[in-house]
Order: sequence, then C-alpha cells, then structure tokens
Amino acid sequence: MENRIKELLAEIEAFNTNNISALEKFRIKFLGKKGIMNDMFEHLKSLPNEHKKDFGQYVNTLKNSINSKIESIKENLNSQLDLSVNQVNIDLSLPVNFNNLGSRHPISIMRKRIIEIFERIGFTVSDGPEIEDDWHNFSALNFPEEHPARDMQDTFFIEQKPDIALRTHTSSVQVRVMESTKPPIRTISPGRVFRNEAISARAHCIFHQIEGLYIDKDVSFADLKQTLLYFAREMFGEDTKIRLRPSFFPFTEPSAEMDISCNLCKGKGCNICKYTGWVEILGCGMVDPNVLENCGIDSKVYTGFAFGMGIERMTMLKYQIKDLRLFFENDLNFLKQFESVI
Ligand code: PHE
Repeated sequence: MENRIKELLAEIEAFNTNNISALEKFRIKFLGKKGIMNDMFEHLKSLPNEHKKDFGQYVNTLKNSINSKIESIKENLNSQLDLSVNQVNIDLSLPVNFNNLGSRHPISIMRKRIIEIFERIGFTVSDGPEIEDDWHNFSALNFPEEHPARDMQDTFFIEQKPDIALRTHTSSVQVRVMESTKPPIRTISPGRVFRNEAISARAHCIFHQIEGLYIDKDVSFADLKQTLLYFAREMFGEDTKIRLRPSFFPFTEPSAEMDISCNLCKGKGCNICKYTGWVEILGCGMVDPNVLENCGIDSKVYTGFAFGMGIERMTMLKYQIKDLRLFFENDLNFLKQFESVI
C-alpha cells in the first residue's frame, strides 16, 4: 500500500492543466464520492489499531498534496483570466454602447399619418397594381386619346405592349374600386407612381401619392371642402387655412387645386411659399359623370368627390425638407433624424 501511495503522490506532483474541466476531473478522481481518497479511508478503517497511526499519516499527506495541487492550479487559472482581460485592454469605465435603433422612413411616417387622419372619418384603404392597363390609368378616367399626359414624355410604357404602363397616379385604384364596389364608397389609395420626369430637387420619376374618393347620394362640393379643411387642420395645425383655385383634371368637373396657409411663416411670406403666404398641396374635384358611368355607377343617382396628393410634397412641407432626392438616397444621416418619430 505504501508503494501505491508513493505512485499516487508522484502522479499528483506531475499533474498540471490550464483547463477547468480537466481540473474538475482530477478532483473527482481523488476526492469524489467513489474517488481514491474514499477507498483510502475505507482501508484505514479496516486496519488493526496498531497500524492505523502510520497509515493515517500517509493518507493525510496524500490528501494535503491533492488539495494544495488543486488550489495552486486554480490560482494559476484565475491569474491567466486577469491577464487576458488586461491584454484586450478593456476599459470598464467606458459608457455602454447602445444598439442603434432603426427608424421609419419619412415617407412611411407621412403615409401612416395621412391614412390615420382619413380613417378617423370612415375612409378605408385600397390597393392596386403598379403595372396598369390603359383603361384603368387613362381611358376610364376620361382622358381623351390625344391627351398630353398619355405622351411618352410622362408615361413609362411597357415595351411592345402599348396598352400597358407603369401607373402615373393612384386614380387607377379608384377605378378598380368603383368597378367592383356598390356605393357608398369612401376610400383612399396610397401607393407608388411613376412618371418620366427629369430627377431634380422638386421632381422624381418615382414618387408616392394618396388619392381619396367619396361616392354616395347627394355628395357635394361643400363636403369636399369640409373634408379637406379637416385634413389640413389635422395635419398642419388648428389654425391652418385653405383656399381652392379653379383647375382642370380630365376626371373631375369642377376641378380645383388646394393651397394651405404657409405653416412656416404663418402667411407672412417666406421662400417656402415664395412670399405668397400659400403653398399648394393637392388636386381635387367632383368626379366627372363620365367616369362614374365608365365604372358602372349611375351618375343620375350618385355623385362624388376625389382628391390626390403627393406624399413627398407633404413630407417636405411638414419637415421643411428642401430636396426631394433625399428620400431616395438612403443617407443614414438624413434618415436618423426620424428615429424618434413613430
Ligand atoms: N390624379 C391626379 C394627379 O395625379 C390628382 C387628382 C386626384 C386630382 C383626384 C383631382 C382628383 O395629379
């Protein structure tokens, strides 16, 4: 038995590791419930009394050497850990690195706001295809064959299919709604539209619109005016004024363009309103009876109004953004400014 203990002492002496689980294995081998030390104590118990003292001393030496080995390896491991912290130069006094929050795109923020305002007075949201046929984008909307808006200047036609184009406005969605729904209809259609225009600070070949349509019995121009006044005040503030100027659209009669009092200079005159005190925000009018008939709605029974606005333009006015191209450039410095807006 003495030899066995000498062997074990040599094994303990030789043991070294820098791995915590290897150390744990070593501990269990000697000190675990079914470990070597346990056997040793069992053996000690079974010895006659006169041998107990000597053997007891051997066992004690063994136990002490195991314990001190474990302690010294542990210390070593800990100091290695400290060292690695120092090596990577962690400065524990630095402030926490916050994760960057994403932000909604300003166009999405504005679209959501406009939708919310109209939803409060009972408008639903309708969607339609971006690739449209001539009927839904032009013909049903009372565009004469030779109307300049059909010209290649404005419209992206799909090659070899003269009848198919990228929609130039979301009025096409309204045609689809009128064709498939019985009045009363109260809906807005947000979406991307496409026009063959040179890209500049004020125009782009892709932009976003929201158009509205209300059809029922006895809908009048006064309803249109009141709806738009409500919208302007909700969007730009309680004291916003509106004015309607006569205009022309093939699909509405009478037609108008709406201005709001400049929310920047409060009507006094600035470069945003070109010193007029007013800024144009949308086109509108009473739906032309021809359009209602084209879509299968009896124009003797029903009347309606429609309006349409560019979301980019509304966003530029709301946030005083001077260049429309910023919306399409994905410049994080620009987009980050909208982090706090929901
Ligand atoms: N569709 C028109 C445009 O794109 C806007 C509009 C919609 C005007 C409805 C009047 C009525 O410019």
